[in-house]
Amino acid sequence: MTLPGTPFLARDGAVLRLEGHALADLARRHGTPLYVYSRRAMLAALETYQRALRGRPHLVCYAMKANSSLAVLQTFAQAGCGFDIVSGGELARVLAAGGDAARVVFSGVGKTRTEMRQALHAGVRCFNVESVAELDHLNEEALALGRRAPVSLRVNPDVDAGTHPYISTGLKDNKFGIAHGQALAAYRHAASLPGLQVVGIACHIGSQITQLEPYLDALDRVLDLVEAVQAAGIAIHHVDIGGGLGITYTDEQPPRADELVARLLQRLDARGHGQRELLLEPGRSLVGNAGVLLTEVLYLKPGADEHAGGGGSGKNFCIVDAAMNDLMRPAMYDAWMAIEPCVQGDAPARRWDVVGPVCESGDWLGRDRQLAVAPGDILAVLSAGAYGMAMASNYNTRPRAAELMLDGEQVHLIREREDVASLFAAERLLPTGS
Ligand code: LLP
Repeated sequence: MTLPGTPFLARDGAVLRLEGHALADLARRHGTPLYVYSRRAMLAALETYQRALRGRPHLVCYAMKANSSLAVLQTFAQAGCGFDIVSGGELARVLAAGGDAARVVFSGVGKTRTEMRQALHAGVRCFNVESVAELDHLNEEALALGRRAPVSLRVNPDVDAGTHPYISTGLKDNKFGIAHGQALAAYRHAASLPGLQVVGIACHIGSQITQLEPYLDALDRVLDLVEAVQAAGIAIHHVDIGGGLGITYTDEQPPRADELVARLLQRLDARGHGQRELLLEPGRSLVGNAGVLLTEVLYLKPGADEHAGGGGSGKNFCIVDAAMNDLMRPAMYDAWMAIEPCVQGDAPARRWDVVGPVCESGDWLGRDRQLAVAPGDILAVLSAGAYGMAMASNYNTRPRAAELMLDGEQVHLIREREDVASLFAAERLLPTGS
């Protein structure tokens, strides 16, 4: 059976292995829920972008919102990657992981003045500014520090990325970016402000994109603007096309990263922009297929149809120890993520809803899955390296999972399982007697 995603994940007889390590053994040793990542799979994904960009001015800025664990950032920083950040917190993580602020682009619609100052002090490569009002704040903060802030305008190209409405960002009704029709005026305004230095243009049209056309349409729209802005006497150095390339969760067939890059470079050449620096902000496509979430089966609860008398639900529930707080994507986006037993047993397969212990009906990891399972088995949710741990919460006062990074023979614990006392360590009881 073929598994979606990375060649580093494979079934060897009955045993599911990531980078050669038996996942069930890792779960027994480190407990569950447990995120496990392959460092080689991450580096291979980055290399696919970098190989295609070789010889061209470029910077790959990993969109760290996808997975911001320090060891993941460190892995990419050491491989020469830059970062796309969206908060002061993310900047602090990049610096703590040994990343270089000069390779950081700062995106986001709601940067605070404090975050702007923090990023100016650190010396980020570029602010991707999303509104005229933000330009004015940034100008004031830069002048107060005696700096000039490097800026790109994030423009909204108004193309349909053909993806889930919650993760589509390039349509004109989205909150993101400056409308295409207002961009030239916004550039003129930026160029008039003494605390700003225009350096580029940016866009990002959405996430889990599985086609090339929306990227090429967006690039065309962006290049139209570059030409108009340059004609107005404002120099633009780089074009940042954003992230968004999809991965295989089930049967999606997104273009490969090198195919996407080749087509973008071709379009830049065709339009006479061959020497322009190209920035990309991939998140999911660098880490998504490099990680799994391991969880233990706690209870099996066959539906009423299984018992004499019936009368109730026909659903069979497989209750596991990971929940929506550990992996939000199924509950939040109705996302389909593959679920595989870590050791294939011989119990008869049956159709299960795989659900967690959280007290919400929306707490599910997979529905109607044909699985042969027994209590105590370890299941792996595949393609969980992106927007898994990074979106985890403590709902139901559940400590967040531990994380392992595999690197060839080595197994590194990169995040300890959260300790319950730390979850309320910052809270205060009311004074007694009040
Ligand atoms: N750049 C910007 C400005 C972004 O907003 C995003 C993602 C990216 C880059 C990276 O996109 P990627 O290559 O990862 O698709 N939580 C959702 C995805 C939200 C994406 C938000 N922005 C999910 O689990 O599907």
